[in-house]
Amino acid sequence: MTDMNYLVDVFTGIRPTGGLTVANYLGAVHPIVNLQKEGHKPLVFVADLHALTDNEPGVARAYTRGVVADYLALGIDPRLTNIFVQSHIQDEILLLTLILSRLVSVAELIRVPTLKDKIKEGGNAESANALLMLYPVMMAADILMQRAHYIPVGEDQVAHLEMTQKLARRFNAQYADVFPKPQVEVVETLRILSLKGKRKMSKSYPEGAIFLTDEPDVAQKKIHKAQTSFESDMSPHLSSHIIVAKGLTQDEVIRQEIDEIVAQHLAGKSVMGEFKAIFANVVKVFLAEFQERRREITADPSYIDEVLEEGNVVAKRNASETMELVMEALYST
Ligand code: TRP
Repeated sequence: MTDMNYLVDVFTGIRPTGGLTVANYLGAVHPIVNLQKEGHKPLVFVADLHALTDNEPGVARAYTRGVVADYLALGIDPRLTNIFVQSHIQDEILLLTLILSRLVSVAELIRVPTLKDKIKEGGNAESANALLMLYPVMMAADILMQRAHYIPVGEDQVAHLEMTQKLARRFNAQYADVFPKPQVEVVETLRILSLKGKRKMSKSYPEGAIFLTDEPDVAQKKIHKAQTSFESDMSPHLSSHIIVAKGLTQDEVIRQEIDEIVAQHLAGKSVMGEFKAIFANVVKVFLAEFQERRREITADPSYIDEVLEEGNVVAKRNASETMELVMEALYST
């Protein structure tokens, strides 16, 4: 019997399905950068197998290194945070996915809200591929494989974490205590809207999204066309712009300037032009600095390999240890 020890403190993954937006940075990467600063030792990974639910393998592969470069350029420090690629431990992940799949019914999987949403969006159960149904089980395999303690995720992933906890409970009850309970850390969901229109900022509507790869001038033009707010009104768009502008600058003076302009706006003054000018400038500086750091990082192609090699070793070691316990539990019962 094991004492169900955690192997990893903070654990999360990101799917390599395309360029990141500033909303991805503020929602998913920035919290990890903060945790790392607070002394945690996160393990993050590129979920290239999960990307296969709706992408061709070649596409997922093509984006994988790019995501790592983005992570590093955004402040993930490989001395504090390990980064690995999911497919480096694909044998273990696939086997654990298979084993965990036996502990959940098809009906339960169909009820997972993310699957229901996808089916609503994209048609019906006839057109949804079966990997989509296994998505939460494979996510559970990721987390339980590393015996991770805290999983910071956005609100949209909470149902998957509940499935993970359920599968851990069932495995432990049926076989042996192998999996410590992963704790969900809901990251304050930042309601970042598209610059225009009602939806959230996302790469599927590029005119309303600021991509990390946008030329600073292009981003500036998008901001100049952004929706704002009537005098003295705090619209959802304005409050979203404020979150983005303040999130992307470290400069206290600029943050105060933003607060002052917003106060004037709420007092009825016509200052949205000034607000946009500051907002655009913050974004320009952020993108220019990010892109410069990313160029430096990718200038040495072996650097990313070295970072991944270190992370891959950690993930593999944890995976081997966990799978040994899993196999022992399965066959000794
Ligand atoms: N489903 C997550 C997302 O789309 C990505 C992911 C896969 C993940 N496996 C994970 C996140 C394990 C946290 C832990 O954002």
